[in-house]
Amino acid sequence: MEGGWPARGGVLLCLTVSLLLQGRGDAFTINCSGFDQHGVDPAAFQAVFDRKAFRPFTNYSIPTRVNISFTLSAILGVDAQLQLLTSFLWIDLVWDNPFINWNPKECVGINKLTVLAENLWLPDIFIVESMDVDQTPSGLTAYISSEGRIKYDKPMRVTSICNLDIFYFPFDQQNCTFTFSSFLYTVDGMLLGMDKEVWEITDTSRNVIRTQGEWELLGINKATPKMSVGNNLYDQITFYVAIRRRPSLYIINLLVPSSFLVAIDALSFYLPTESENRAPFKITLLLGYNVFLLMMNDLLPASGTPLISVYFALCLSLMVVSLLETVFITHLLHVATTQPPPMPRWLHSLLLHCTGSGRCCPTAPHKGNKGLGLTPTHLPGPKEPGELAGKKLGPGETELDGGSGWTKAQLVELWVQFSHVMDTLLFRLYLLFMASSILTVIVLWNT
Ligand SMILES: *[C@@H]1O[C@H](CO)[C@@H](O)[C@H](O)[C@H]1NC(C)=O
Ligand SMILES: *[C@@H]1O[C@H](CO)[C@@H](O)[C@H](O)[C@H]1NC(C)=O
Ligand SMILES: *[C@@H]1O[C@H](CO)[C@@H](O)[C@H](O)[C@H]1NC(C)=O
Ligand SMILES: *[C@@H]1O[C@H](CO)[C@@H](O)[C@H](O)[C@H]1NC(C)=O
Repeated sequence: MEGGWPARGGVLLCLTVSLLLQGRGDAFTINCSGFDQHGVDPAAFQAVFDRKAFRPFTNYSIPTRVNISFTLSAILGVDAQLQLLTSFLWIDLVWDNPFINWNPKECVGINKLTVLAENLWLPDIFIVESMDVDQTPSGLTAYISSEGRIKYDKPMRVTSICNLDIFYFPFDQQNCTFTFSSFLYTVDGMLLGMDKEVWEITDTSRNVIRTQGEWELLGINKATPKMSVGNNLYDQITFYVAIRRRPSLYIINLLVPSSFLVAIDALSFYLPTESENRAPFKITLLLGYNVFLLMMNDLLPASGTPLISVYFALCLSLMVVSLLETVFITHLLHVATTQPPPMPRWLHSLLLHCTGSGRCCPTAPHKGNKGLGLTPTHLPGPKEPGELAGKKLGPGETELDGGSGWTKAQLVELWVQFSHVMDTLLFRLYLLFMASSILTVIVLWNT
């Protein structure tokens, strides 16, 4: 008896355990007899399909673990005004359903089946930043494996909100986030995980992205903060997607033409001041630049102040300034050749200093500055300076001017010379301003 008791206890225990296992097996093991001849028997899965309204658990305290990964298959566009990123994602979800379970050996070696996803419980994973209704196509299927693992992939067009910074446009990079979270389940009901490393996601996305469009994928990072709303804690996974704009379109269409126009504007200072062409030429350039800006307006981001707008404004103001300078010099020449006012002594000596030494205001590129080194003691005779302005001086105009001791012709000559020196000086200033401001913009762009 003493020896029999433990034996009987063991038999009882075995019986209980086997009964329990049997019961569990009856309830959750799928009977797949006949799958080899008649295909899958819907009745075998009916028990699973009937439970699709409820989260599949055998112990309520154990949260369902959903593994998430995704592939970024296209970057469709970035809307700077609405701050939206439109992209296309293939989302992979993997979780376990304890009610699905069969023995592949009994089932002619089948260990994987596809099932219409709408017959199964699906986790309510959504992207927090998404600003669009879920446009998942209907009729998707999922893989179920003999151990109850469900793999559900869905394609999804995601319009997500993204904090865009277009200051460096068109050399900008953006850092957008995709935060995957459950809509309803707190950490007690659902935990999120990943079964792929982030670098794998990045690599697959790089290989899959076919579009040679405006945006290029730089990298993907991950963080797993928990989000608490009120007393509830939600599990979530955040992916940081860094993208960079390909600037060549903008360089060719915006920066190069604009630079050409400014360069031509600068070169137009080499047109002789006396020819009447300079001002019309500059006005034409200015007009052309405005037309260019109007046409290219569509290429610029619709909101914010990118550096490139500052650059355009700068180019425009350079052109306006250069036109104003031409107007000023033309006026000066006009006054000089028609009614030259007496030249103050200090101005005259300054002019002498400049043209004489040739250092502070080196010779202008045009012919006007040839008459150098004038002194009151050996002023050249009347040299037809009026011809420069396209007009002959009358005989009476060569008479002596006030007390200065210069003939009017000499005075005209001096003022014309002064205009040329002034022109050269302003041109240098213009070049200096242009160089420094464009350098500043370039330096800003490179930081
Ligand atoms: C499986 O189902 C078939 C009929 O569909 C039945 O004959 C068989 O006994 C079942 N097997 C088990 C283990 O329940
Ligand atoms: C359910 O899971 C919790 C936590 O893992 C455990 O403490 C509890 O005993 C389990 N209940 C059952 C009935 O297995
Ligand atoms: C999720 O991934 C982890 C490891 O990354 C793995 O241990 C776990 O089994 C996976 N769970 C599911 C449901 O795929
Ligand atoms: C994107 O921003 C997040 C946080 O703001 C940062 O952790 C991450 O490193 C950034 N990613 C890149 C590629 O700059």
